[in-house]
Amino acid sequence: MKVITIPVAYGSTNCYLLCDQREKRCAVVDPGADPEKIRSAVLASDCTPEAVLLTHGHSDHVGAVDALRTFWPELPVYLNDRDVRESDDRLYRRLFPMVKETRSYDEGDVIRIGSLEVRVLATPGHSAGSVSLLAEDVLLSGDALFACGMGRTDLPGGSETEMTATLARLGALEGNFSVLPGHGRASTLAIERSENPCLRQALQAAAGPAEETIRLYTRQNDKTLLELERTGRVINRSYYVRLHFGDMAEHYLESYAWFAGEAAKRVPRPADVTTSIWCSISAEACFRPGPGSVVYVLEVPRSQVVFFDETKWDYVLDRIYLPENDEDKRRYLAHLERLGIRSSYDLFREKYRGLFEEERARIRESWKRVFTIDRWTVHNVCGNIWEIRKEWVRKIVRPGEAIE
Ligand SMILES: [Fe+2]
Repeated sequence: MKVITIPVAYGSTNCYLLCDQREKRCAVVDPGADPEKIRSAVLASDCTPEAVLLTHGHSDHVGAVDALRTFWPELPVYLNDRDVRESDDRLYRRLFPMVKETRSYDEGDVIRIGSLEVRVLATPGHSAGSVSLLAEDVLLSGDALFACGMGRTDLPGGSETEMTATLARLGALEGNFSVLPGHGRASTLAIERSENPCLRQALQAAAGPAEETIRLYTRQNDKTLLELERTGRVINRSYYVRLHFGDMAEHYLESYAWFAGEAAKRVPRPADVTTSIWCSISAEACFRPGPGSVVYVLEVPRSQVVFFDETKWDYVLDRIYLPENDEDKRRYLAHLERLGIRSSYDLFREKYRGLFEEERARIRESWKRVFTIDRWTVHNVCGNIWEIRKEWVRKIVRPGEAIE
């Protein structure tokens, strides 16, 4: 396919020829003015015109239709019928001149020009019957999407709400397209997605309000950088714990497994993840990066974080009852004394195997208070996440660098 741009009406409107060079056929899109100029371009293209495709019914897009029909009397003219209205109002007629004998086309229609398929997208907002046309990797966006802008919405049949939906829809088209608008310069959809404020706003509105995020800091082995690069994420593995804690590894792994099981009830855990990643909630409380490690500074959606009180974690590690408060602690110690047990840790030792099962369950239940934050400070509160996703990484801090 070859697209020829013909600036008409002193360059203010873009008329396009969509040419199928194989079968020597073409379509004329938006012949707004200058019929002779358009005719010359068609003849020079060596293609026979098969149809006129109108993105909408405004005079600056349809002005040369009648004249083109005198050159090619059989030429079908497509225009969505929401832009074809009876009206005696003079101003309305000036904006929407009567185009005779049009064929209506609408969302989902495909117009064949030789071997080319032109798909029709209903894109109202500038006018009720505005359409955009997709042919191969080209999007003819009419007066909906402009390079770095959008068409006006204050004319009869225009609607800001519909325009927002239209822009969001065009922005969400899969892949990249050349964007050829009804006025102004050409662009690409990828550029517009990143630079066009109207399109960006529409896409944001469609995505809904942004989720609140929280800044987290976590020190990890620097080998994780490779994993992040390769897979787009970092997950923790239990053999790291084994490497780290040597003889105590089993004890720690059991504690971490309990923690991970409880945390997974609060934020679902990805199927391939077993072990948590713990993060500080401030740069101040985070370990500095040392040799062989880095600190990840993350911006994580709040819904992905399980907060816990790290000062309570020792109770889990020590296998002792985690009291709710001083009164509860007194009560529990008295209870243990009545049972003739010195410390609740003893309950987890070999000599009580098979005994006091209910007591151990009670202790395990008390550990859930790890997830109850009585006092928020940057030193006691930590955040559990299941993975470090690449899109959450704001900064990677190497040894010797300041975290913030
Ligand atoms: Fe227009």
